[in-house]
Order: sequence, then C-alpha cells, then structure tokens
Amino acid sequence: MQRNTSIMIYNNILETIGNTPLVKLNKIASEIEATVLAKIETTNPGNSIKDRMALKMIEDAEARGDLKPGGTIIECTSGNTGMGIAIAAVVKGYRCIFTTSDKQSKEKVDMLKAAGAEVIVCPTNVEPDDPRSYYSIAEKLNNEIPNSYWCNQYDNPSNTVAHYESTGPEIWEQTEGKITHFIVGVGTGGTISGTGKYLKEKNPDIKIMGIDTYGSVFKKYHETGEFDKNEIYPYITEGIGEDILPKNVDFDIIDLFEKVTDKDAALYTRYLAQQEGILVGNSAGSAMAGVIQLKDHFKPGDVVVVLFHDHASRYVGKIFNDEWMRERGFLDDELKVKDIIAKKNNKSFISVEPKMSVREVLNLMKDKDISQLPVMSNGDIVGAVSETSVLNYVLENPFNHAESKVEKVMGEAFPMVPEDLPCSQLSRFISKKIPAVIAKDKAGSLHIITKYDIIQSV
Ligand SMILES: Cc1ncc(COP(=O)(O)O)c(C=O)c1O
Repeated sequence: MQRNTSIMIYNNILETIGNTPLVKLNKIASEIEATVLAKIETTNPGNSIKDRMALKMIEDAEARGDLKPGGTIIECTSGNTGMGIAIAAVVKGYRCIFTTSDKQSKEKVDMLKAAGAEVIVCPTNVEPDDPRSYYSIAEKLNNEIPNSYWCNQYDNPSNTVAHYESTGPEIWEQTEGKITHFIVGVGTGGTISGTGKYLKEKNPDIKIMGIDTYGSVFKKYHETGEFDKNEIYPYITEGIGEDILPKNVDFDIIDLFEKVTDKDAALYTRYLAQQEGILVGNSAGSAMAGVIQLKDHFKPGDVVVVLFHDHASRYVGKIFNDEWMRERGFLDDELKVKDIIAKKNNKSFISVEPKMSVREVLNLMKDKDISQLPVMSNGDIVGAVSETSVLNYVLENPFNHAESKVEKVMGEAFPMVPEDLPCSQLSRFISKKIPAVIAKDKAGSLHIITKYDIIQSV
C-alpha cells in the first residue's frame, strides 16, 4: 500500500494512498517546548486517512473470498471511510451502499454520492441496537442483499492492520525513530491501535495518547474498566468518540485519553488554518486542542506527532461558517446576554403581583419610566404586563379599569434565557408580541432585558 514517491506515473488512484507529509507546527504549539509535528492525511485521494484502511479492508476481503466480482460493499460510515471505499469500489468495479448518521456534514454525504455510492442517512440519537440506527440498517442490508460484504470498520481487524503496515512505519521513518509521543483522535480505534502498536514495538517508551470527546465512553472505560452509559450524550465533534466499544480500540496500547470540548475542537480547527495554513477537519482541531491541554507531559527534546485525519473542505458549512459557529456559542467575540446585563444602568428587577390593581401598575410604569413588567407570584414568574396591554385594557374599559387586578391584564410570562446566550440568538425570542426576556445571573438574581436594553448595548 505504501506509495512509491520515486515513480512518475501511477497505474490508478489507489496507488497514491499513503506517504503523507509530516509538517512542523510553528505557531499554534509555541507554548510547548517539545517539537510538535503534524501527520497530515489530506493528501490521500479521498482527502482522509481512511483511504488506507478502506483499501485494506477490501483487499483482505477479496483475498479471503468474502468479496467477489460484481459484489456490493456495505458500510456504516461518517463519510471518510465511505469515500475511501467508494474510490476503491470505482476502480475495482463494486457497488457501494453506506449508512450514515444525520449529524454528519451534508458535504460529506454529497461527496459520497458524487463517487457513485448510495447513502442512507439514519438518526443519530438512537441506541446502537435500535432498528433505525446506522449499525442496524447496515446489518439488515447485509443480510438481505446477495453477494454483499459488510466491512464493519469498528470490528474489522484489517482497519488496525492498515495503520500497523503503513501509518506507523511512515511516522517512524519520517521522525528517524525520534518520536516520543503520538496523539490522535479515536473513533473506530484503527488509527491509534495500528499506529500505536507499530510504534510501541519499535520503542516501548513512546506514549500513545487518544483524544476523546465529551459524550463518549472511551476515557472513563480506559480509566475504570466501566462502560458507563451516563457518559453518553449527543455531541458535535465529528469523527471521534463512540457510544460503543469497537474491537479496533486496543485499550492496552493507549497510555491515556484526553477529552476535548466541542467548542475547543471547532476553534482549534480554525486556528490551524489561520496560524499554520493547514486546512484540516474537526477531529484535527480536537487533536490539536488535546496536544495543548496535554502540554505538561512534554519536555524539551521530545518529538510529539499529532495526526490530522481529514480535510477542511468537508466542514465549510459548519466549522468554517460564522453563523453555524455563533449558533452554538463557539465564537468568543460575541456579545452575550450577560454583557447586556453588565451594561444596564438600572439593574434592579421590578415586578408586580397578580392581585395588584391596574392603577398601581400604571403609576409604577409612569414613576419608573418602564414599558413592561414581569408578574410574580410566590417567587415564580407567572406572567407579564406591557404598556400596550395595559393601555388596550384601559381603552376597552374606560370606567372600571382602575381597580381591576393585574391578572386580568397580564399576558404570557417573558421567556427565560441563559445568561451565556449569544445576543444573536435573542431574535428567536424577542418579537412584536414579546418585548423582553428574563435571565438569571450566576448569583441567582433575575434581570429583565428589553428591546431598549439591547439597542443600548450594541
Ligand atoms: C475525521 C475523522 N477523524 C477521526 C476518526 C477516527 O479514526 P479511527 O476510526 O481510526 O479511530 C475518523 C474515523 O472515521 C474520522 O473520519
């Protein structure tokens, strides 16, 4: 599988897989005293490392007789493995059907289709054994379609072997055996287990560090031996973390797992482009953030290799889209609700009670020069009154409005929003009918945020 760089013409695109560059990181890792090198897998024909194992799984299946001419390849894939398989299938003449989750970038799915694959998008937030999950659907297709072969990258040993045979030796040779730490995101586990096994065989002192994400089971399982379902929840980072224990994760090879947040993974993906000119994907950002988090493990003279799995082009509508980043609160430059609270001149939270009279409310509004008021009962927000609603009531009831109670006039309570909410998100709540929102700060105090406050703060 290793690409021979001395030849000028390759017989087909599959021969160009592997032999990817190792590049020194100069700015992004400046706080680390060790040399930090990036193994950049984007030069593979499918723009990801997964080309390596995709071809290996197919070639091994052919050699065993599991995949025969004219056969159909089935796989659960977040896109990159699919792209590797699709490319190999085009060259070798197989049909491909992929199941993927609805969390994956649309770009990834479209690219798979472009390479001739059929793609079935399945829901993310279901148990792996749910009949709708992408594991279950792949299994079903494999049982139903004659002459089909399900690669099953999670448990297929060829996945790990591909990296043992190619990624590991490349890194060893490129660093002339000087590598001290290997850091990489973990999904199926093939990359870390195969590369790590090869490197540890060469030098058992090399530390193998896996990057995990919040919402995945790996770190806790590695540290305690417990498969804790409470660790599982939906997350945004693509390509790494699992809610299962794939056979390809060799926990004995891995020295430690480090978890990285969705936000840091996204931000570091951007920093790699901005500071190093390296256009890579979401899991690369996660791995890079992990390297920074782990900086105390590295000393001067160490050679740290971090692996970047795939290309930035698959994330243009996500990580590289400001709106997408803002909606998730990933951009720090954004004004938040708490910034508006900080800028308010009058921070007192004035409210009225349901049994107060409309006259009292009108007086309060006049005295304090306020246009809307929350209605509270026993410490709970139960409604709201606004200048418009009071005025309408007074006009409709010119003779008996004064002693009427607030509960007759009040409308729905103003929505509660978190104080960390980016202000761009306030437009989802504020409207003609809803002139204000309420936020609770860390000390537990309530604040009303009106259209006026928003205008004043920008
Ligand atoms: C973008 C990306 N990053 C990381 C990984 C994890 O690699 P592995 O499955 O070898 O653990 C994958 C696997 O699909 C991936 O597509």
